[in-house]
Amino acid sequence: MGERYDWKRLESSIAGIVSEETDYRAIIDKVRPLLQELLTDDQLLPEHYRKPLPNKYAQYLLYRPENEAFSVIAFVWGPGQTAPVHDHLVWGLVGIYRGSVIEKRYRRFDVGEDGQPQYAIKEIAEVRADQGDITFVYPPDHDIHGVSNPFDEIAVTVHIYGTDIGKQLRHIHDVATGQSRDVVTRHDNEAPVYG
Ligand SMILES: [Fe+2]
Repeated sequence: MGERYDWKRLESSIAGIVSEETDYRAIIDKVRPLLQELLTDDQLLPEHYRKPLPNKYAQYLLYRPENEAFSVIAFVWGPGQTAPVHDHLVWGLVGIYRGSVIEKRYRRFDVGEDGQPQYAIKEIAEVRADQGDITFVYPPDHDIHGVSNPFDEIAVTVHIYGTDIGKQLRHIHDVATGQSRDVVTRHDNEAPVYG
């Protein structure tokens, strides 16, 4: 790209998309080329943010508009690091910036009887995503996944969500029991890298 990425242009593009579309899948299809462009920007992530944390995957907020209508996050996955099975409760796209990750996708079924909800989680797909690939999530049925980097190289993924995902109340799911617990996953940086 050469020049500094124009975050204000991304902001107006996404504002236009979400004003035209309410269907999550339609939003995702239109945001996808914008994320594709971000993935080709070699300058996107300063060197400091490309190093994994020792104990968990790193979550760095890159950009968030004032109205928090979306957020752009970089996740850095050291070899062997994983995210537990979780949902998002908002549309989101996951782009692979460096390295590769394995994504396991799940669906939740109500298996309760007599009107008493009881949930079971079933794995429906396992996908390897490599540099340049983009996957997506959206509620209710395409929203639960687990992500891991079982490879020897550091992986960096860049995500766009339809809210500030660092404030979003969502869930970690226990695949064995079907039970879930509330979680907010805060960003590892205090202020966004850009803006
Ligand atoms: Fe996720």
